[in-house]
Amino acid sequence: MTKTVLITGASSGIGEGMAREFAARGYNLALAARRLESLEQLAGELTKQFSGIRIETLKLDVTDVVAVQKAIPSVAKIFGKLDVVVANAGIGGGGAIGSDKFDEDVAIMQTNVIGAMATIDSSVKLFKEQGEGHLVGIASVAAFRGLPHASAYCASKAAISTYMDALQLELHHSPINVTCLYPGYIDTPINNKMKNRPFLIDVEKGSRIIVNLIEKKVKKSTVPVMPWNIVGRLLKVLPNSLLAGRA
Ligand SMILES: NC(=O)c1ccc[n+]([C@@H]2O[C@H](COP(=O)([O-])OP(=O)(O)OC[C@H]3O[C@@H](n4cnc5c(N)ncnc54)[C@H](OP(=O)(O)O)[C@@H]3O)[C@@H](O)[C@H]2O)c1
Repeated sequence: MTKTVLITGASSGIGEGMAREFAARGYNLALAARRLESLEQLAGELTKQFSGIRIETLKLDVTDVVAVQKAIPSVAKIFGKLDVVVANAGIGGGGAIGSDKFDEDVAIMQTNVIGAMATIDSSVKLFKEQGEGHLVGIASVAAFRGLPHASAYCASKAAISTYMDALQLELHHSPINVTCLYPGYIDTPINNKMKNRPFLIDVEKGSRIIVNLIEKKVKKSTVPVMPWNIVGRLLKVLPNSLLAGRA
């Protein structure tokens, strides 16, 4: 039976990369984002390349909680059910605390936290009704430590990581699978203006690793596993003097 995956933030970067990788592995796709044209272009390309799969596109702003709550069950109805939902949509930006970037910080929290929670909450409700499903949250290695000039982004990813921890405990004895992934730097528009991107990997490789981890149903993993598994642990304990920025 063909599996169906819903990906939020599928119009660019890792979401688009995952769509390509899941399509190549024979999954039906539900692709959601605000830029419908980009989704339709991607869907057209993948339909030509992989004729056996079904692809639906969906204009969705994840900060519109009511729209998310309507969209997830209605997409499930179109396909019969959803097997995997990846709460991937996210934004970066922001800046130093106290530098008139608060509007950007609010948008980061609304998208990366409220938008992701809305996606996860509605999907888990659906999975409970279905009696099965696999929820994937995309956190970041930024969840491991609040870093200078990225306070809101780090806080948003720590929040979603903790939310996913709670979900794993809630669903521990249920047939619903929960995966939380912590990517390091993957080359996408979210970070391509940054000067420093240690251990950078390209989006094809990043998406392939992510889909492998999802298919293995891992509970948690950095992406790639190494060196970020070690670097992530180090990040938590390095002294402030090594990580401090300039005021
Ligand atoms: N790239 C990395 O190094 C890295 C590392 C760690 C974690 N991550 C996480 O990976 C996820 C994907 O990021 P990316 O690197 O692929 O960045 P990206 O290329 O900028 O893609 C972000 C995606 O999120 C969508 N999006 C943003 N706001 C949205 C909203 N309000 N509603 C619906 N969709 C929205 C965008 O689509 P529209 O603009 O069309 O809505 C786009 O498809 C994010 O959660 C990010 O924090 C990335």
